[in-house]
Amino acid sequence: MATHFFVTGTDTDAGKTYCSAALLRGLVANGVRCAALKPIASGVDAAGHNTDAKALAAVTGQTVHAVNPICFTLPTAPHLAAQAQGDSLSLAQLDAVLVATKPEPACELTLVEGAGGWLLPLNAQQYLADWVIAQQWPVLLVVGVKLGCLNHSLLTVRELRRAGVPLLGYIANVLDPEMHYLAETLQDLQSRLQLPCLATLPYAPQGPTDAQCAALAQTFLQNFNGS
Ligand SMILES: Nc1ncnc2c1ncn2[C@@H]1O[C@H](COP(=O)(O)OP(=O)(O)OP(=O)(O)O)[C@@H](O)[C@H]1O
Ligand SMILES: [Mg+2]
Repeated sequence: MATHFFVTGTDTDAGKTYCSAALLRGLVANGVRCAALKPIASGVDAAGHNTDAKALAAVTGQTVHAVNPICFTLPTAPHLAAQAQGDSLSLAQLDAVLVATKPEPACELTLVEGAGGWLLPLNAQQYLADWVIAQQWPVLLVVGVKLGCLNHSLLTVRELRRAGVPLLGYIANVLDPEMHYLAETLQDLQSRLQLPCLATLPYAPQGPTDAQCAALAQTFLQNFNGS
């Protein structure tokens, strides 16, 4: 039976997919059989596929549909995209997704990428976070390192701790190559969040190196097995 963990971010565009693909690359290279799930996505390319799901499927070898069962065409908040097309989103739908997308028996780890930040609305009453809390999956936080990330990461970690979910740690993902006081910000994140920093991924539009992916996977596995 595969074990799931959830990847959230300090915001949309924090680098959840960038870091998830890097981690999966490192895990697969380490011989770990992985699957990915992006349960909800909004926004598609010309072929009608969500690009996050494509990026994750390219690493795990799954089909894009297997990675992303619920996809809305409009590139906006999923609950609004759902509403706009006369559809809806709910925790019950997500539970059904989990039943329908059972990973292969050989799969050891399933990475579940959220959408947006931790408190992503599903409808007027429910949040994606409610589902993760109910599943009791450990959570990995991607901090999009740019001006404002201290506030965003502290707010997110405060809420994750309030919810009582197991915390695997965070990845400091550098989004701004010219950020002033980058080293000081990374140091400040570490001392204020009081969480394991699994990796700092530098700004690299071409993607992380194999060595960075392998190092991330190694630190992840140490924290995952100890969680
Ligand atoms: N370390 C990095 N260096 C350079 N570019 C990056 C880095 N991390 C992310 N990016 C780029 O920033 C953009 C947003 O990243 P990504 O799509 O991974 O965010 P996300 O959190 O998954 O967003 P969403 O909420 O839409 O799922 C992408 O174009 C990605 O390639
Ligand atoms: Mg993404």
